[in-house]
Amino acid sequence: MEKLISKRFNIQSVPESYVLPQELRPGKLVVPLCKTIPVVDLGGGDGHDQTEIIQQILKASQEFGFFQVINHGVSVKTIGDMLSVAKEFFEMPVEDIATLYSDNLKQICRVCTSIDYDKEEVHYWKDSLRHLCHPVEEYMHLWPQKPTRYREVAGTYSVEVRKLGLRLLGLLGEGLGLEPGYFGNELSKGELLLINNYPPCPDPSLTLGLPKHSDPNLITLLLQGDVYGLQVFKDGQWIGIEPLPNAFVVNLGHQLQIISNGMLRSAEHRVVTNSSVARTTVATFIYPSDECIIEPAQPLVKAHGPPLYRAFQYKEFKINYSAKFSEPEAQLAPFKLQS
Ligand code: OGA
Ligand code: NI
Repeated sequence: MEKLISKRFNIQSVPESYVLPQELRPGKLVVPLCKTIPVVDLGGGDGHDQTEIIQQILKASQEFGFFQVINHGVSVKTIGDMLSVAKEFFEMPVEDIATLYSDNLKQICRVCTSIDYDKEEVHYWKDSLRHLCHPVEEYMHLWPQKPTRYREVAGTYSVEVRKLGLRLLGLLGEGLGLEPGYFGNELSKGELLLINNYPPCPDPSLTLGLPKHSDPNLITLLLQGDVYGLQVFKDGQWIGIEPLPNAFVVNLGHQLQIISNGMLRSAEHRVVTNSSVARTTVATFIYPSDECIIEPAQPLVKAHGPPLYRAFQYKEFKINYSAKFSEPEAQLAPFKLQS
């Protein structure tokens, strides 16, 4: 329980173990809220052309590795319920939250803190609840029992978001010229739900909620609610992602960069804190099975070769990633081919 930052809700100053070294601090720098990260309207049936949607998400994935989607088919009710139940979870007495705390990476449902509390030099300003969610029936009985509607809400949410994730993967695959269903089966078998809770921080210039990182998986769909905090690193600068009601922020993980042979980007991002309100986000990670072989897609290598990455099993990537969480270059290095 000492490890949870949520228990320190009312602290007046940032504890030393959360103060970043000077060069990693966000500082007082005001970051521009970005209007250039594309917002893609996925609504069909009213003149929105599928080809145009594909072009938009493909371009955004090449340029930014990030985009937002609206009219995406996940209902406003499902989104509202999920955000409320996520907030309610972290508003429970810290003793209740702490009962689910575990450092065991293999535990299917657990509360955890920043990255690796016992090993990291500096801690980050967040706590999380994380659990597997596909197939829902297999894991639901291990999810939190409080708030009482948690399981029902997160169950509906996980199924709907998975559908959206697979649809986006289908569109990206089509845009890249891959065969239909390329990203189905083993490549997208896993689904993890991660609720991040960033409590108000007395001095946001000294800390981060999450350090600069790229996600290890295939694709991530994030509900960031209405509180700003997410920033993307683009051309040597941090830019803020504007919170849009009911939109999903979509970002590509390392595996899409590798499979697309570098055509698509897995962008680096981080989370800053604020001093006034708690920020609760819900991230869904879609990722390959442990045994799945990842390699640049053959048609892309043929058309644009040579391959930039070697073939590997996803579990090999995961192990290296955890060891090198905040060094995105070192995460990819062992899998790069010399060209
Ligand atoms: C993540 C992440 C962003 C956010 O969990 O990997 O980047 O705004 N989260 O919580
Ligand atoms: Ni991330």
